[in-house]
Amino acid sequence: MPRKHSVYDVGSSRFDDAGATFERIKAPRASNAKASASTQPEEREIDDPYEILAPFIQDRWISDILHVVKSGKEATVYCCRAHPDTELGLIAAKVYRSRENRSFKNDAIYQEGRVVPDKRLRRAVEHKTRIGREVQFRLWIEHEFQTLRMLYGAGAQVAIPFASSSNAMLLYYYGDQDAPAPTLSRVTLRPEEARPLFERLIKDIEIWLRHGRVHADLSAFNILYHRGRLVTIDFPQSVDPRFNNNAYALLQRDISNICDYWADYGVKRDPERLSAELWSRAVDFF
Ligand SMILES: Nc1ncnc2c1ncn2[C@@H]1O[C@H](COP(=O)(O)OP(=O)(O)OP(=O)(O)O)[C@@H](O)[C@H]1O
Ligand SMILES: [Mg+2]
Repeated sequence: MPRKHSVYDVGSSRFDDAGATFERIKAPRASNAKASASTQPEEREIDDPYEILAPFIQDRWISDILHVVKSGKEATVYCCRAHPDTELGLIAAKVYRSRENRSFKNDAIYQEGRVVPDKRLRRAVEHKTRIGREVQFRLWIEHEFQTLRMLYGAGAQVAIPFASSSNAMLLYYYGDQDAPAPTLSRVTLRPEEARPLFERLIKDIEIWLRHGRVHADLSAFNILYHRGRLVTIDFPQSVDPRFNNNAYALLQRDISNICDYWADYGVKRDPERLSAELWSRAVDFF
């Protein structure tokens, strides 16, 4: 039977995180699920990670949901026990809030240049009908998944994507049994690692650009520090500089955020100049 969701498979030999000892999230009792299904379908969707992640359990990606890593503006990230077949130990599941229940970024500046190939659906999106909003929500998630897939394939240090569905995706879990990897905002870097990490991040931003992406929400909150390396996450709003007129301004904002962060470690770079350099090198590459 064909899978209902797209799957990105990568070899398991690179993964070595061990199994979990977190307290389990309890699967909702069938009677509860039924009751809420008849009254509050939207809430049921959010409250029941077992239902949302069922396709991944069926496909033997994960065998259990262990605990919430973090509930953010757009999504809740869960730490899951990986199915033994994957040899991963743990897997992160990012479950998006339905569009009615999440706080919106000002979508329009990020959506520019994204194409809905089907004419009927494109019209629905333009008219913001219920179906149109649903399509846009699914495309938003698919955009993050495909972006991660492409950038990881290109050698960038971004979260490794495994599989996606209409409202969730599975990612490599950064962290260990005790805690997830901290975001850069919560880390104090050693003086000798600050500059090399900055340079590596700039190299990454250049890879993203050459592959048609500006992160557009880059800051120390969307970068994980894992075993001495940086891993960037959270790409749904990323834009393609070839088709989005806001891309350069968004790149400048990204670069400015990271220059501010690294200035505290004595790494001083002019964000405007750095943005211009990266941009002109990428444009040559297109
Ligand atoms: N693959 C992962 N491994 C470990 N932790 C992760 C992973 N992905 C995300 N997280 C954690 O979950 C948090 C939320 O993830 P993400 O930024 O993708 O979602 P979000 O809804 O945009 O959240 P926010 O509003 O905080 O930006 C991250 O800040 C990080 O702490
Ligand atoms: Mg985030």
